[in-house]
Amino acid sequence: MSRAVCPGSFDPVTVGHLDVIARATELYDGVVVAVGSNVSKSALFAPDERVTLLREACVAWPSVQVTLFSGLLVDFCAAHEIDVIVKGLRSGADYDYELAMAQMNRRLTGVDTAFLPTAPELAFVSSSLVREVASLGGDVTPFVTPAVLTQISRRLAERASG
Ligand code: PNS
Repeated sequence: MSRAVCPGSFDPVTVGHLDVIARATELYDGVVVAVGSNVSKSALFAPDERVTLLREACVAWPSVQVTLFSGLLVDFCAAHEIDVIVKGLRSGADYDYELAMAQMNRRLTGVDTAFLPTAPELAFVSSSLVREVASLGGDVTPFVTPAVLTQISRRLAERASG
């Protein structure tokens, strides 16, 4: 049985992430969506909130498990018998960023990374732009699920009220 991990910050999960996760379910028997914290990014949602939103968004795929992870991704892979790391690539900039991590991860434990090119119509969608557009009053409806949209509105309202 082949098992893949789709790691990320998912703050919040976007339709671009869901496209990659859906395609991973067609390639691997089991897919673990692992929610980590990227220390260089300021968060909108706490890690457990991101897990909850992802579980709702992935409910249609029985082979998908969503979990938190901390520490090295390669250690998570070893502990969960993961064969391959799956990452979506939107652009050459993503490739430059991801390539070194993929090479480092392979050097550390031998775990390999498979890159899936993002659907072209979703190539500009990122969690960071969703956060920025939403926080400045823009409409992010096309880029997230309805449940995520509701939680973004709620979180921004909480922040605005103090
Ligand atoms: O969605 P992001 O922010 O690009 O996700 C990045 C993440 C969390 C997948 C990445 O930072 C990661 O793998 N962190 C785990 C720590 C780790 O293994 N670092 C060494 C990478 S070579």
